[in-house]
Amino acid sequence: SDALKIGIAGLGTVGASLVRILQERHEALATTCGRAIEITAVTARDRNRDRGVDLTAMQWHDDALSLAQTADIDVFVELMGGAGEPAYSAVKAALSRGLHVVTANKALLAAHGIELAGLAEEHGALLNYEAAVAGGIPVIKALRESLTGNTISRVYGIMNGTCNYILTKMEKEGLSFEACLKEAQRLGYAEADPAFDIEGNDTAHKLAILTSLAYGTAIAADDIYLEGITNISIDDIHAAADLGYRIKLLGVAQRTESGIEQRVHPTMVPLDSVIAQVDGVTNAVAIESDILGELLMVGPGAGGNATASAVLGDIADIAKSRPGAQHVPAFGRPVTALLTYKRAQIQ
Ligand code: HSE
Repeated sequence: SDALKIGIAGLGTVGASLVRILQERHEALATTCGRAIEITAVTARDRNRDRGVDLTAMQWHDDALSLAQTADIDVFVELMGGAGEPAYSAVKAALSRGLHVVTANKALLAAHGIELAGLAEEHGALLNYEAAVAGGIPVIKALRESLTGNTISRVYGIMNGTCNYILTKMEKEGLSFEACLKEAQRLGYAEADPAFDIEGNDTAHKLAILTSLAYGTAIAADDIYLEGITNISIDDIHAAADLGYRIKLLGVAQRTESGIEQRVHPTMVPLDSVIAQVDGVTNAVAIESDILGELLMVGPGAGGNATASAVLGDIADIAKSRPGAQHVPAFGRPVTALLTYKRAQIQ
């Protein structure tokens, strides 16, 4: 058959949700996409954990690299996370074979996105990563496709569900920082190492990706001013409220006279602004551009289903694409064009 064969590396919260959705909606997806989507290969750290899904029909691989190198698949779906190994080598191996790659891995893209996009272009493969930024919100598609031709002046927003969940619960339920973080972890929102959430690194990874898409620059995650929420107390939150503000962890990238400024830090936002009303695990991304004007997207930013929804959309795009069709480059313009912009343009 002409089914699209996918291999999934990583069966945590997002991977398990994706498998369940692909199984439950198999028929409907085949109709929507014009062809079936079959999971033929998987790999995960723990083979025996009960994930509430049937994995018996799939070929198990010992590790992601062997899956990427040897499995009979069209698409390598990377849901392991982490900027380094095993994700980095596995994604490179998949692209080098000409396999399409779908990933939710913002840390990997922040570190190696341009190199991976270059590999994808070289081998005629797609590199899709909608789930990497702001969960289910289609912000990559907006920047990479919909806003083409616009000059973007500013991109900012709430891009970490765990931090927003913690700040909201501290304010509304008076719970301690630690208790809120534990709950975010239990609900499957937090990173494997939650320091990445609360110290702002995860927001910085996502912002670096958006900056590259918005301004056509190479990714410069290391240049981001970074401050997390670990020093925010309930007293700070109440003091801000008394002044008419709410504290949100924002990522901001804006054009200035001297270049593109990128920063991540807790910010006092006016209580009557839309962004102040964004509660819990919900994310919000605002894009200010010259043709469209202000675009604000609000939606679920973390968790199994929100993230799996974006991964599924990326897989469906591949299923619908026709062999030999021209692909939209991973960062909206060819890597050669990205690299003509100097890093020095970003401050
Ligand atoms: N830990 C991340 C968050 C997951 O809380 O937003 C989604 O990228």
